[in-house]
Amino acid sequence: MARVSLQVNGQAHSVDLDTRTTLLDALREYLKLTGTKKGCDHGQCGACTVMIDGRRINSCLTLAVMNEGRRITTIEGLGTPEAMHPMQAAFVKHDGYQCGYCTPGQICSAVAMLDEVKAGVPSHVTADLLAAPDLTPAELRERMSGNICRCAAYSNIVDAITEVAGGTG
Ligand code: FES
Ligand code: FES
Repeated sequence: MARVSLQVNGQAHSVDLDTRTTLLDALREYLKLTGTKKGCDHGQCGACTVMIDGRRINSCLTLAVMNEGRRITTIEGLGTPEAMHPMQAAFVKHDGYQCGYCTPGQICSAVAMLDEVKAGVPSHVTADLLAAPDLTPAELRERMSGNICRCAAYSNIVDAITEVAGGTG
């Protein structure tokens, strides 16, 4: 056991944890932030995606203790029902979900993904590594491919993300 200090959604938390506890379990079981979902617990579905220092990460694949002092943002920190983040509002507008289980991970992933594009980070389908990447449908699908939606709401998810990215949606 160890006392672990976590900065989550702008708030400092101090919890006594088995050092083998994943960040996902620390968020859900100890901090009661249940917006972040556990799908596979093996890094394969993306339901547990959160942002750490602005970059997306599968929280089931990182230990809580490894993230001391880092800025962790979960879906609860992006917006509220009364004041939604633009990506949350776009998912509502475009009906980008059915059961909603994958949605927090999809939204956290999409927000960080747009920052990656703005920063010029290429993906596996970027043809010209020297040019600024353009968020084509193929780029968007590749960059979001780590977030599985078992309800297959993909076309509406693409519309929501495209709108926030500045396309027509
Ligand atoms: Fe982490 Fe599926 S629960 S990737
Ligand atoms: Fe059900 Fe995506 S909305 S898994």
